[in-house]
Amino acid sequence: ETIEKGGYDHFMIKEIFEQPRSIADSMRGRLNAAEAQLQLGGLSNYMDKLVAADRIVIVGCGTSWHAGLVAEYLFEELARVNVEVEYASEFRYRNPVIKENDIVIAISQSGETADTLAAIELAKSKGATIFGICNVVGSSIARASHAGAYTHAGPEIGVASTKAFTAQVTVLTLMALAVAKKKGTITDEVFERLLAELDNIPSKVNKVFESATKIKEIAFIFTYAKNFIYLGRGLNFPVALEGALKLKEISYIHAEGYPAAEMKHGPIALIDEDMPVVFLATKDSSYEKIVSNIQEVKARKGRVIAIVTEGDTLIPTMVDFVIEVPDTHEVLTPLLSVIPLQLLSYYIAVMRGRNVDQPRNLAKSVTVE
Ligand code: G6P
Repeated sequence: ETIEKGGYDHFMIKEIFEQPRSIADSMRGRLNAAEAQLQLGGLSNYMDKLVAADRIVIVGCGTSWHAGLVAEYLFEELARVNVEVEYASEFRYRNPVIKENDIVIAISQSGETADTLAAIELAKSKGATIFGICNVVGSSIARASHAGAYTHAGPEIGVASTKAFTAQVTVLTLMALAVAKKKGTITDEVFERLLAELDNIPSKVNKVFESATKIKEIAFIFTYAKNFIYLGRGLNFPVALEGALKLKEISYIHAEGYPAAEMKHGPIALIDEDMPVVFLATKDSSYEKIVSNIQEVKARKGRVIAIVTEGDTLIPTMVDFVIEVPDTHEVLTPLLSVIPLQLLSYYIAVMRGRNVDQPRNLAKSVTVE
């Protein structure tokens, strides 16, 4: 194999541990926190169009669609623009309403996913402006877009996407911030604080890795679980979806991600002493609500693994296991909270003896319908 595993057992774990560097690479030449400067060269000619847009439609598949859901929160919160996130495969067959000043952002690691490519061709034919957020340079989606920003995560070999996701979220954060700054929807103070926080993310991801041994112990306890539920709110809702997807993809354990508040409309019926529930419970604006969702699960004897903010003293008294992540600005939380979920799924899959890098029935790049 030309690209080596660098001493790791699998590409996936190598790629998980590469994230401090790949996130930094996705910001290199774009973010200068010390001087409060942010530029996205590939988008500069289209920035005015992006700022003027009434609506952004994001299309993608799989993990890239989850990055799109994170971006929906980011663009709405920071840049106050209406965002819709679509599965490319649904969008392309639905005769969607697209207007000429709509911006369509296609997110794709490979840049070759057939449904995503077809979705942008359709949007283009209706006059929309297409931005591609791709990892593979010169890929079909990158070439079919009017403009874009590469994620620069480096080659991703593991079929289950890890570092490509965090790079996508990073680039989308930079985009949302650039628009917000230009529109004046955030103050200079918040803008500068977010740039500084982004700059700190790679070292905070390294801190999450200090929990790797603990996560391995938790993985050992739950190796043979039959089901898993992942719950989160706000920006941590897409992270819950992504955590469940990672587990399904490589361990073949059935897992569902849900918005925590929706639990009472269905998944709560599944909870008993055999059900592991992973809560994304970082200290953010929905913290109190998540605490009561945890109580609801514990009252039904579910076994709770909570991803919490460093120094949280309340949740550890309520749950079975906690994994800490460093504090950051709320909008950047997904970049940290997803890391323990990647590790948990990796260790469980390895303990089950799965083919982690090439799970059955899955392909790295889906170039057919
Ligand atoms: C496949 C891969 C996933 C990926 C999805 C979208 O299902 O196994 O990891 O998220 O395709 O791929 P893309 O290259 O468009 O991001």
